[in-house]
Amino acid sequence: MNKINKKVVVVTGAGSGIGKGIASQFATSDYCVVLATLNKQEGEQLEKELVSLGQEAYFVQTDVREEQSVKDMVRAVISHYGKVDVLVNNAGVTLFKPLLEATLDDWSRVVDTDLRGVFLCSKYVAEAMVKTEVKGAIINISSNHAFRTLPHTEMYAAAKGGVNAMTRSMALSLGSYGIRVNCVCPGFTDTDHYQTWLHDKESPDAVERDVLKLHATGRISTPADIARLVGFLASEASANITGGEFLVDGGLTAALYHADNF
Ligand SMILES: NC(=O)c1ccc[n+]([C@@H]2O[C@H](COP(=O)([O-])OP(=O)(O)OC[C@H]3O[C@@H](n4cnc5c(N)ncnc54)[C@H](O)[C@@H]3O)[C@@H](O)[C@H]2O)c1
Repeated sequence: MNKINKKVVVVTGAGSGIGKGIASQFATSDYCVVLATLNKQEGEQLEKELVSLGQEAYFVQTDVREEQSVKDMVRAVISHYGKVDVLVNNAGVTLFKPLLEATLDDWSRVVDTDLRGVFLCSKYVAEAMVKTEVKGAIINISSNHAFRTLPHTEMYAAAKGGVNAMTRSMALSLGSYGIRVNCVCPGFTDTDHYQTWLHDKESPDAVERDVLKLHATGRISTPADIARLVGFLASEASANITGGEFLVDGGLTAALYHADNF
């Protein structure tokens, strides 16, 4: 049970990238942080790192696609800390593939993690919040692809568009329990994935210059940029904000179109 008088946050997919940034920021903000992630090595490593800094972290290996795994995770958290105050649905996979080549297995891989996972984690964490009378917050990590997209992104765009739609409905369904639900929609974010994508290109420097030109701020986001907004949406400072969809993309999605020659 919760012996320590701290808030408890569950971060799915906390082992790397944006999720790691979010988990680390909550840990430095005095939360008990549950690392609900699939990769055991990443989860154990981050738990060790945070605990060595004197922070409270608890790794629970979780597959957000699997109902039993999500139920087991919520049960483990309740028995360890007694409650959940905040859920961050961050776990996600990205797969861009031409429609004419995409298979049903590709569809399931993306949609089961990025959309079904948000449904399952929200359902079982919200149930625990209601039972323990916690007036909590759920923050879904979506994408700018929920608003505007590109060719060959059908599966990812559908999943993230679904996350935004579900966010609005959950905000309405859970409002009477005092639970707020919002989503944060990152654009390009400097993670290992981004660096791998960039360095797979023939001319990474030229591609990077092109990417930066698309941003009104002249830079892409960092996991810390995302984590700061998530921290705000989890806090009392956002007490009357629910059902919101917030881009963190340096102005990328604001542009009508991009062209160099007119
Ligand atoms: N990186 C970006 O540029 C970017 C942009 C927009 C949106 N996003 C979104 O941000 C979120 C995090 O992206 P990232 O780039 O940091 O990804 P990442 O691949 O670096 O991290 C994803 C994490 O999720 C975990 N994970 C994967 N499948 C899981 C499952 N079934 N159950 C539990 N955990 C699982 C992985 O182990 C990993 O720890 C995703 O939802 C992604 O769609 C990322």
